[in-house]
Amino acid sequence: NAAPVTVTVTGAAGQIAYGLLFRIASGALLGSDTPVRLRLLETPAAVGSLEGVAMELEDGAFPLLAGIDISDDPWIGFDGANIAILVGARPRTAGMERSDLLAANGPIFTDQGAAINANAAEDIRVLVVGNPANTNAFIAMSNAPDVPAGRFTALTRLDHNRAIAQVAEKTGAAAADIARIIVWGNHSATQYPDLTHATVRGRSALEVIDDSAWVTDHFIPTVQQRGTAIIKARGASSAASAASAAIDHIHDWVLGTAPGDWTSMAVPSDGSYGVPEGLISSFPVTCSRGEYAVVPDLEIGEFARTRIDHSVAELVGERDAVIDLGYAKRS
Ligand code: NAI
Repeated sequence: NAAPVTVTVTGAAGQIAYGLLFRIASGALLGSDTPVRLRLLETPAAVGSLEGVAMELEDGAFPLLAGIDISDDPWIGFDGANIAILVGARPRTAGMERSDLLAANGPIFTDQGAAINANAAEDIRVLVVGNPANTNAFIAMSNAPDVPAGRFTALTRLDHNRAIAQVAEKTGAAAADIARIIVWGNHSATQYPDLTHATVRGRSALEVIDDSAWVTDHFIPTVQQRGTAIIKARGASSAASAASAAIDHIHDWVLGTAPGDWTSMAVPSDGSYGVPEGLISSFPVTCSRGEYAVVPDLEIGEFARTRIDHSVAELVGERDAVIDLGYAKRS
């Protein structure tokens, strides 16, 4: 067996983490040859509850679980971290504007970015799940000047997987038969799930679906609003599917995307597709040997351009707000 990989998870006593930690311990994140050491980070108020989660993890008797550490101090929680999944965030409460949410999360991701900068392992890879995920990742990146910017990513894989599920349902194909879906932009209702380049069993998805009204009037809003629909149905947010998507994101980043396919990740823009450089926005990416690359040279039609620009404008607004609040610097 290889040496254990240290995986830090924040918000470790929360709902998503409850779905996430057991799958990490089982080997779903990094494969069945790689032991993991979990470093679990919570707020002081939730440490007691987290001790219960740690007891359950122990009781899983997972052969790959090399150790569990608990902390409420980011300076300890990110010590030696190879992978950090930042799930903990201040949730939006009644009457809170988006700007209040950005302000409430600013200090959390400022501190965590600084702690990652100081204490994480050289090969640290960061996935931000806690909302507003793209902009929280931007804040953490901005506060970690010694870590390559590209190591900071945010989760849009849940949206990507939701898009696959909708196409599978519409066409009767299996999820595994669907490839080259793209989610562009922000993990918010402005995201653009794009089927232009998607395939079903190797054929153009748009040709197989042959129903453009379904794409614009059903598919796009359903993917955008899926989180709200699940809260309405379940009375709680989509924690298990979010956890599953976080596993997929890190798994593919580290171990690679399938040949001929790509995935969606929110990553710092290199200026591709007209997205301002440094903005953490969702792109189609391929991953190989632990590195991701934005898929180049895809044709972007007029409809897609408008949708991408709309979501990117929202991200620019969020970025400028957190820069004005002093949580991030202009790169
Ligand atoms: P939750 O409320 O059950 O758990 C969040 C946990 O984070 C709580 O236990 C809380 O004590 C902890 N926490 C808060 N601040 C912290 C800090 N500074 N350090 C460490 N821990 C801290 O929420 P849940 O359902 O687990 O969701 C977590 C986040 O994920 C939310 O922001 C939610 O909006 C977001 N989310 C993102 C998705 C995505 O696709 N990007 C999908 C679904 C949820």
